[in-house]
Amino acid sequence: MLEIEAGEKTTIRFTLNGKPVQAQAESRMQLADLLRHVLKKYGTHVGCEHGICGACTVLVDGRAVRSCLMFAAQVEGASVVTVEGLSNATGGLSELQAAFRRHHALQCGFCTPGILASATQFLQDNNAPSEHEVRDMLSGHICRCTGYTGIVEAILMTAQKRGGA
Ligand code: FES
Ligand code: FES
Repeated sequence: MLEIEAGEKTTIRFTLNGKPVQAQAESRMQLADLLRHVLKKYGTHVGCEHGICGACTVLVDGRAVRSCLMFAAQVEGASVVTVEGLSNATGGLSELQAAFRRHHALQCGFCTPGILASATQFLQDNNAPSEHEVRDMLSGHICRCTGYTGIVEAILMTAQKRGGA
C-alpha cells in the first residue's frame, strides 16, 4: 500500500473493471469517492457512508468490500470491479443481473449495485446456497423498496441455473 502524507495527493494505479487506470487521490479520500467523483463510475452508490447500508459495495481482488470504509490508496495494485464491470462478455446483462430483472429484484435500484457485488462473491464461494444463507448474506444490505423476496429468488435461481442449489 502507498504511504501518503495528510493533504498530499498521489497517483494510485490499479485495475478497474479489467482496465488499468491511474488517478490522483488525497490520503483521506475514500474509495467510493475516487470511483464516483474522479473515475465517474456512478453505479457505485453511497448511502450511509459508515458501513451499514451496503450500497457502496464493490469487489476488490474478488472480495466484496464497503468502498466507503476503504481508503482509495488501499487499492494500489489491486483489481477493482464495480457494477459497470459485472456485465457479460458482450456488455449485456450477466446471468445474475438478468435474474434480478426476471424476478423483479429491484425497484429504485439504489441498493442494487452493492447487492450484485456481494452476490457475485457469495455465489463464487457457495454454489448451492440455502435460502437462509442468501438472507444472511443480504443482512449486510439495506433495500428500502423490494421486501427482499425477489432478490432472494434471483440469487437462488442463478445458483440453480449454474448447476448448484
Ligand atoms: S455507503 Fe458504504 S455501507 Fe453505506
Ligand atoms: S430497490 Fe430501492 S433500495 Fe433496493
